[in-house]
Amino acid sequence: MVRDGEVIGEGFHAQLGGLHAERAALADARARGEDPAGATMYVTLEPCAHEGRQPPCTDALLEAGVARVVIASDDPSEKAAGRGPGMLRDGGVEVEFAAGAEAAAARLLNQSFRKHARTGLPLVTLKLAMSLDGLTATAPGDDPWISGESSRPLVHRWRSESDAIAVGIGTVLADDPLLTARLPGARQPVRVVFDSEARLPCGSQLLATLDRSPLLVVVAPDANPARLSALKDLGVELITASGESPADRVTSALTELGRRGLTSIFLEGGRVLAGAFAAADQIDESKIFIAPVLLGGTPSAPRAGGAVGGPMGEEALATAGHGGSPSPTGPARRSALESSTETVGADTLITSRFKEW
Ligand SMILES: NC(=O)c1ccc[n+]([C@@H]2O[C@H](COP(=O)([O-])OP(=O)(O)OC[C@H]3O[C@@H](n4cnc5c(N)ncnc54)[C@H](OP(=O)(O)O)[C@@H]3O)[C@@H](O)[C@H]2O)c1
Repeated sequence: MVRDGEVIGEGFHAQLGGLHAERAALADARARGEDPAGATMYVTLEPCAHEGRQPPCTDALLEAGVARVVIASDDPSEKAAGRGPGMLRDGGVEVEFAAGAEAAAARLLNQSFRKHARTGLPLVTLKLAMSLDGLTATAPGDDPWISGESSRPLVHRWRSESDAIAVGIGTVLADDPLLTARLPGARQPVRVVFDSEARLPCGSQLLATLDRSPLLVVVAPDANPARLSALKDLGVELITASGESPADRVTSALTELGRRGLTSIFLEGGRVLAGAFAAADQIDESKIFIAPVLLGGTPSAPRAGGAVGGPMGEEALATAGHGGSPSPTGPARRSALESSTETVGADTLITSRFKEW
């Protein structure tokens, strides 16, 4: 919030259910002894006009007597779009929308909110690490990490910035991961395992750490009822994904995850599940590490969990997952809208965006 070229208050939406950025900025201005009346408020997203977890921001702006609101991006949700700016104008506030690069940058800041608002589905970011010989799985008994030490704090930060982390049961059976964000004070994402037949071992680390964050297991409609009730008794939440192909079941699961209010998923593999997300055209962004190592496997090398660990052949991709029925559409090429490369320790990190919401 600005008056006479001076910033008099700042705020951001720190967490779901917490104060929206506008109310946080008004509170900050008052805490600094500043009166927001007559000031200009710059916002990344149009102020809301509806009663949600928080009262409408437009009411707070009108009550405070803010003179001008500059909005960097529209709100794509049906219940909100255009209402806030309309009410502000009706209340005598000057409203201006940013355009060009500033508007695009603001939209990119809010991709998970925008995808969820427009489609009901969470934004999906695929993270994978691969060796120079194109492998994504290490040999049984070897360190499961392919990327170097320097990548780990980044991965934990990305986990903490996501509402959920997802992996396939092949990864759980091979690595017995925790899937927590291990940084001081980190927000813990919900953990999701795609496991059609409810094979998740009762002694897994995921089940031993339910006090740290919830665990959702995505199962098929015909999963063994005894396995399902065993998992339920241990405190797992079950989601039933239906559909003919692995890709259809990915979309079915994402629909349910979105319905539960999860707006972003950090997809950590393995390769079979990543292939099904790609076949469903549900990868919005990716972060791929290429590590300067040779793992020396062969494309068809069998791995724990019964899935393949090498480069994904078309046949393997089409038959991935429960039932092995081929995807009706098959894998589809999608080129990145934008891509950038950086060095992280000895690794190369390629960050790509495939869709813009
Ligand atoms: N390099 C990396 O970044 C990275 C990341 C993660 C894992 N890994 C490595 O990759 C290996 C495991 O990967 P993986 O490819 O073998 O297995 P995965 O992708 O972790 O799991 C695949 C399994 O998930 C289940 N699944 C449930 N619903 C599915 C759906 N809709 N679509 C596809 N699959 C579905 C299927 O088994 P059901 O039909 O029985 O459910 C499928 O066989 C491990 O060695 C691990 O260390 C590497």
